[in-house]
Amino acid sequence: MRKPILAGNWKMNKTPAEAVEFVRAVSPLVTCYPQVETVVCPPFVALPAVAEALRDIPIAVGAQNCHWAESGAYTGEVSAAMLEGLAQYVIIGHSERRQYFAETDESVNKKLKAALAHGLVPIVCVGEDLAQNEAGVTDAFVSGQVRAAFAGLSAEQAVGVVIAYEPIWAIGTGRNATPEVANRVCGHVVRGTIRQLYGDAVADAIRIQYGGSTNDKNIGELMAMTDIDGALIGGASLKVDVFATMVRVTAGLYPQD
Ligand code: 13P
Repeated sequence: MRKPILAGNWKMNKTPAEAVEFVRAVSPLVTCYPQVETVVCPPFVALPAVAEALRDIPIAVGAQNCHWAESGAYTGEVSAAMLEGLAQYVIIGHSERRQYFAETDESVNKKLKAALAHGLVPIVCVGEDLAQNEAGVTDAFVSGQVRAAFAGLSAEQAVGVVIAYEPIWAIGTGRNATPEVANRVCGHVVRGTIRQLYGDAVADAIRIQYGGSTNDKNIGELMAMTDIDGALIGGASLKVDVFATMVRVTAGLYPQD
């Protein structure tokens, strides 16, 4: 069985002090559910403080981006190498970075390789916008994004990647994909593409999250779906009680042995 993974993408929110306050408050509420992998992804400047606060606590830390080069003349960027020891996960190719910071399928692929080379687990984001959704090109577009992101990755590398299906029209809008729609794209399109690329073993093991207006009210029905293994949570991950409830509800669907 694939272990469920709930990751909070805080985006450009919370100072280092606020981030530490959050993880101190949330950790007793979520670490009692070891059957759920819980991840927080603060802004870069909060990573050292959060990593320190969670040193002996089983909540993982993720970065929200990384550069593909080891080091060099890339003002304002942070390399995957620099994240070693601070983060276990890194979000790559979030739609906000593709939309506002000109990330391309090619840069996503390079970042994915850099993250893997430095022992980080990439959470690679894919998803169509509203116009593509309404034009009926979701499947072809999302499948193409998956293929481009995984170009050149071996099966051994691919199986360790987490994929987040985040339809852009559902992000921050309060309009989430229905569980059935989200499950169809996660399963038929995303997992189906991985099956074509790598075969059954990788496709059946790789973890696929849904993201877009998830909250404590809808997480249960989303996580009950066969092909949804977790959630990449934006706004709802900023509130201790809401995020903790999402972990608790998910844990209830994955009882411990
Ligand atoms: P919301 O949960 O705020 O819609 O954001 C989703 C998201 O973009 C997570 O990466």
